[in-house]
Amino acid sequence: MTIILGLESSCDETAAALVTADGRILAHRLATQEEAHRPYGGVVPEIAARAHVEALSPLIEAALADAEMTLDQVDVIAATAGPGLIGGVMVGLVTAKALAHAAGKPLIAVNHLEGHALSPRLSDRTLQFPYMLLLVSGGHCQILLVRGPGDYARLATTIDDAAGEAFDKTAKLLGLGYPGGPQVEKAATQGDPKAVPLPRPLLGTAEPHFSFAGLKSAVMRAVQSGHHSTPDIAASFQQAVIDCLIDRTRRALGQADGITALVVAGGVAANQAIRRALEKLAADHGLPFVAPPLWLCTDNAAMIAWAGAERFAVGLIDDLTVPARPRWPL
Ligand code: KG4
Ligand code: ZN
Repeated sequence: MTIILGLESSCDETAAALVTADGRILAHRLATQEEAHRPYGGVVPEIAARAHVEALSPLIEAALADAEMTLDQVDVIAATAGPGLIGGVMVGLVTAKALAHAAGKPLIAVNHLEGHALSPRLSDRTLQFPYMLLLVSGGHCQILLVRGPGDYARLATTIDDAAGEAFDKTAKLLGLGYPGGPQVEKAATQGDPKAVPLPRPLLGTAEPHFSFAGLKSAVMRAVQSGHHSTPDIAASFQQAVIDCLIDRTRRALGQADGITALVVAGGVAANQAIRRALEKLAADHGLPFVAPPLWLCTDNAAMIAWAGAERFAVGLIDDLTVPARPRWPL
């Protein structure tokens, strides 16, 4: 059985994982840099790159030890090659190139978004192409038709902020700290989602895209007014995001034929209220709803190893000249 080593270093998580071509996760190790970035309220690229350098080799060693393997027994080396913070991406990709070259193994340069997009097939091996994917993370908010490895159609994207970015900025405005998504979700459980009137940008329009910048400005005004509690603002904000995500996804579902499931992936997919709303939307359309477990939704290396496995299976191999890309649309 083919064994794939996957490396992830595009943002503030350093990770290494070993996955088999039939979807068994032999090991997955992750080091988060949350503490290093917390004083700045967001990810500092230079700090991130240095932390990846320190963390990556020990994580690879640890993953191999967990799987009771040596590098010789690995068949394929996969690493995130973008999009992301370029210093961090280079740490992972150059490490993968060195390992692939030294051990004489094929290299696969994985688009981080493809990692998220294919991760639901790692947790649910029955999920078939094509499926509709809502990809919601700190850097992206897209609806994709996933037809196969390397074969995507983008049905919608954000014209300004990503959904996770909106959560992070709202958390900052509310003084809830970094990373913001989980903090806003926690505060929202104590609040009234109808308490604060907030806009739903682009709701009901024929324009297929997302927009969250206006929502963020409205949250800022609500905070500055001093009229509302933190839980009420958090709950109202979260409800506004849910309404936008559902409206845009419903519109996309109305236009797609022959899809097997509605799937959500990316860090924001860890949000339970968002999951529940999407589950209901899928049921309304008679579709199964697939969401990876929480740890597989946020950044990790198992999804990168798995995307490597899927690409390797169809012969999509890269050579050692493949570049690291800060921007790389799917
Ligand atoms: O996919 P991810 O780990 O990294 C990127 O590729 O961006 O996503 C991180 C994003 C952050 O913006 C974070 O605030 C958000 O996902 N997030 C959440 C939750 N957990 C993480 N947003 C809302 N609710 C959550 N529970
Ligand atoms: Zn991500």
